[in-house]
Amino acid sequence: MTWMITGGAGYIGAHVMRALTGAGERVVVLDDLSSGAARRLDPGVPVVRGSALDGELLARSLAEHQVTGVVHLAARKQVAESMARPSRYYADNLGGLGTLLEAVTGAGVERFVFSSSAAVYGTPDVELITEDTPCAPVNPYGETKLAGEWLVRAAGRAHGMSTTCLRYFNVAGCAAPELADTGVFNVIPMVFDRLTRGEAPRIFGDDHPTPDGTCVRDYVHVADLADAHLAAVRRLSGKPAGDLTLNIGRGEGVSVRELLTLIAEVSGDDRAPLVEPRRAGDAPRAVACARRAAEELGWTARRDAREMVGSAWRGWLAHRSPQPAEQY
Ligand SMILES: NC(=O)c1ccc[n+]([C@@H]2O[C@H](COP(=O)([O-])OP(=O)(O)OC[C@H]3O[C@@H](n4cnc5c(N)ncnc54)[C@H](O)[C@@H]3O)[C@@H](O)[C@H]2O)c1
Repeated sequence: MTWMITGGAGYIGAHVMRALTGAGERVVVLDDLSSGAARRLDPGVPVVRGSALDGELLARSLAEHQVTGVVHLAARKQVAESMARPSRYYADNLGGLGTLLEAVTGAGVERFVFSSSAAVYGTPDVELITEDTPCAPVNPYGETKLAGEWLVRAAGRAHGMSTTCLRYFNVAGCAAPELADTGVFNVIPMVFDRLTRGEAPRIFGDDHPTPDGTCVRDYVHVADLADAHLAAVRRLSGKPAGDLTLNIGRGEGVSVRELLTLIAEVSGDDRAPLVEPRRAGDAPRAVACARRAAEELGWTARRDAREMVGSAWRGWLAHRSPQPAEQY
């Protein structure tokens, strides 16, 4: 078997690449390096530099590398940008997926893993989000992920392709500093960024209906997430019939205040946070029910929030003065 990893130069894709090659899987990466970094690539893994929107390149690469399965991570992922430029997100995320699926099914590839997101759920008012919780995304990014899942399942049904959609919750940490996420789009790097600039971290609302009044999220270590992909790939290698959709989270919540305490401990910077008003659209709590992934993949997250924050901090220190070529 050979697995094509689209987006393999990205933060999550590079971890998936390492998990698969470390377990002896043959891999080829396709990436246009639009938000990825060459430093994350492995010299031993072939790379096709190009876009998921280029159908001819895809068809040629799938044939040349005799690809038998695809893990599709390549996408735009910034929620705010998706609200400012929705047509770009639909064109790139759904257009890329549609082009890839045409090439994949045309090449007779029978296994497909799709990077989805907890953003498909929107802001449900439930203790634990299960895969059966109704999907109601609240931004174009989440909409492209939900429509992407529909497209993946429809293509699977039409062409006898086994598919798995993984709905990641809040991904954090890194397995090695060179694989770190250097974008400042999530709460952990945002706090690091403020500390590095000598500013206090911010809390948006401490009057939410949660134990300490701050928002609660489900953080999953990116190395655990990569292991979930390996488990999904191994399951698909047996060519099971049909499709599977799974939450990938720890099933445990961490509040913003708890996160800030951990960040203060690992960074040694314990300045008091500024409490600002709640932001519109922030769900008080978003925590996965992780049972189905355990049952179907035999996978559960092993690394805790302290390990995530510690590794993220080491990655941040290694990259806070990136070379221009490595900047997003
Ligand atoms: N990071 C998170 O917290 C999170 C949470 C849920 C879901 N996801 C999803 O996981 C996937 C990977 O996210 P990430 O955090 O690693 O992002 P990233 O930006 O680090 O990686 C995306 C990679 O895809 C490449 N890429 C983008 N568009 C492409 C295209 N059209 N053709 C070829 N390559 C292209 C980029 O160059 C980059 O290397 C995305 O689909 C994202 O929506 C991420």
